[in-house]
This record gives sequence, structure tokens and C-alpha cells, in this order.
Amino acid sequence: MEKSATSNTSATPAPSGTEPSASPLALPDLTGRTAVVTGASSGIGLATACALAGSGARVVLACRRPDMARAAAALIRRAHPSATVGTGLLDLADLSAIRRFADRLDYARVDLLVNNAGLALAPRSRTADGFETHFGVNHLGTFALTLLLLPRLLAAPRPRVVTVSSEAQRVAALDLADPNCERRYRPWAAYLRSKQANLYFAAELQRRADAAGTPLLSIGAAPGLTRTNVLGANGEHAVLRRVVRLLGKPPAQGAAPVLYAATADLPGGSYVAPGGPMQQRGAPRTWHRTRTLHDTATAGRLWTLSEEMTGVRADFGYATAA
Ligand SMILES: NC(=O)c1ccc[n+]([C@@H]2O[C@H](COP(=O)([O-])OP(=O)(O)OC[C@H]3O[C@@H](n4cnc5c(N)ncnc54)[C@H](OP(=O)(O)O)[C@@H]3O)[C@@H](O)[C@H]2O)c1
Repeated sequence: MEKSATSNTSATPAPSGTEPSASPLALPDLTGRTAVVTGASSGIGLATACALAGSGARVVLACRRPDMARAAAALIRRAHPSATVGTGLLDLADLSAIRRFADRLDYARVDLLVNNAGLALAPRSRTADGFETHFGVNHLGTFALTLLLLPRLLAAPRPRVVTVSSEAQRVAALDLADPNCERRYRPWAAYLRSKQANLYFAAELQRRADAAGTPLLSIGAAPGLTRTNVLGANGEHAVLRRVVRLLGKPPAQGAAPVLYAATADLPGGSYVAPGGPMQQRGAPRTWHRTRTLHDTATAGRLWTLSEEMTGVRADFGYATAA
């Protein structure tokens, strides 16, 4: 795993989202903290990683494509020449790759994990382990990674996990009897279910961390419509892509709720989204009345199902402080 503050100008393609612009949020000094950001090669993840690095955190860009990861690291170093930025290979569509990433991470202590990586509107397909792609990558991959990093997170005095959901998760209907969408496949519904699962997971992680007496904070976040690569460049959904291009905000603004969730003084189990109408724009704030946060029965069943499907189980026994 590359871990260096020196410049790296390899001839790799620039990640889309290009030069990350400055975050609209003023972040606290994060010197001495180590952050892992998944899907940091573009969009909201790149903007998040750049802002964290600019505030002094050591940042690991956890990406599935090494060339994109190196290019993203170079962009961040150009914006913040003294930043400590490393890269690590992480493919959330493959449980063995997730285990490899967790095993090989250079840092014994992780203060912040930002579960940002995700994809949307994929054609019907499966991950290496046979899971429907949205559920497998966006939720199960994120679930497995977080649990595998628990020992490193719990080595930090006040660890925090931010999981990026979507403001649109509230219209989803997660079907735990059919997690792999065997009965009927609609890409938009599959995406929204996975994003709802992200928020169920964030809330349940907090409940379990609390029950185990650990100091871990788990916060859910939603960016609001943001101009990124999430819908891909080609293929179906051209109208939707045009809407996102026209109405979406720049990645630095989309990253603001994620950065607020990562650094503000918030109670564990919070959900942060833009404060304006439909949770689309405006300064980030916490939202309390989201049903997903309070449906403990579904969250518990999803947790058990996710453990069964991935074979990864939570071990909170590493906590050093209560
Ligand atoms: N943009 C929006 O309007 C919006 C709204 C609500 C929620 N979100 C959420 O925001 C998060 C960030 O998305 P974005 O909008 O910034 O899109 P993006 O630019 O496409 O970024 C997504 C990131 O996830 C990575 N990724 C995809 N599949 C992966 C896998 N199997 N393993 C590891 N990494 C993988 C991508 O890597 P590659 O570059 O290699 O593909 C990329 O770095 C997602 O969770 C998305 O659901 C976005």
C-alpha cells in the first residue's frame, strides 16, 4: 500500500470530477487522525478525501482501479502539497478483495472510515460472490469492510464511521426476502434498496456499538443530487444523466454533508443531509424523522442476513475504551 507525501505524477488518466475544489465547510484540524475513504477516485469520495487531507488527516484512498487511485492521490497532493495520501486496492464486489484490503492496510488505528463507494443503475449482474450488484457492492461490501476494519477502528479513542446513503432512500422498499432481486429486477429500485440498506446499517452499527460499550460513532449521510460519474457515461438512462448534469451540484458541495458527518460534534446514529427542500441543497444538518433510523426490527434482520451472506461477523471485543 502506497503511503507517501511526495508528489506522484504518473501518466494516468485524470479521475472525472477533475480538480477537487475547496470544500464549502470549515473543517477542524485533523492532524494525527487517519481516515480511509472508499471510492475516493472520483466525485464525492475524491472531494471528501481532498478536504480531509487538506485539514491534516492522513488519508487512504480505497479504490478499485490503481491508475485512478494514483491519479486521485496526485490531484490531492497538488492541492495540498504537504498532505499524507496513500492508496489501497479495494473492490467491494469481491469479498476476498475486501479481506485483502483490510488485512494489508498500513495503519493499525483508523480514526475515520468513510463508506462512500457505490454504483447506480447497473444492468442485472452479480458480484464475484453471486450477490446482486447494487446490494452486493453498496451494502454487503460496505458491511463486510466495516466489520473487518473494526479492530483498527476500535484502536482509536473516538472512532467514527460515516456511511453514504441517499436522500432518495426514503422511497425505497427493502425486501429482505429477496435481497438479490430474483423475483423482479429494476435497476432504480435495486439502487434505492441498497441505499436504504446503507442507512439501516449505519443506525444498527451505532446500536450495536453502544450495546457493546464502545466509543464508536456511526453516522449516515446523504449528499443530495451531485454531478458525478455515478450514473456512468454511456448506455441507458440518458435522460436521468442529463437531469443530473443540469441540476446536480458540484462534488465539493455534495461532499459537504459527508464531511459534516465526519467531523461535526454529533450524536451517534445521526443522519446528515442537506438542510433545504427534499434534502437536495443547503447547509448540512441532521434529520431525525427518517423512518429507516427508527425501524429497529428491519435493521436487526438486515444485519443478521448480511452476516449470513458475507460470513463476516462483528467483533466489538477490541474496544480499548468504554
Ligand atoms: N451523485 C449523486 O447525486 C448521489 C446522490 C445520492 C447518493 N450518492 C452516493 O454517493 C456516493 C458516491 O458516489 P458519486 O456520486 O461520487 O459517484 P462516482 O463519482 O461514480 O463515485 C463512486 C465511487 O465508487 C467507486 N466504486 C464503484 N464500484 C466500486 C466497487 N465495486 N469497489 C470499490 N469502489 C467502487 C467508484 O470507483 P470507479 O471510479 O472505479 O468506478 C467511484 O470511486 C455513492 O455511494 C452514491 O450512491 C450520490
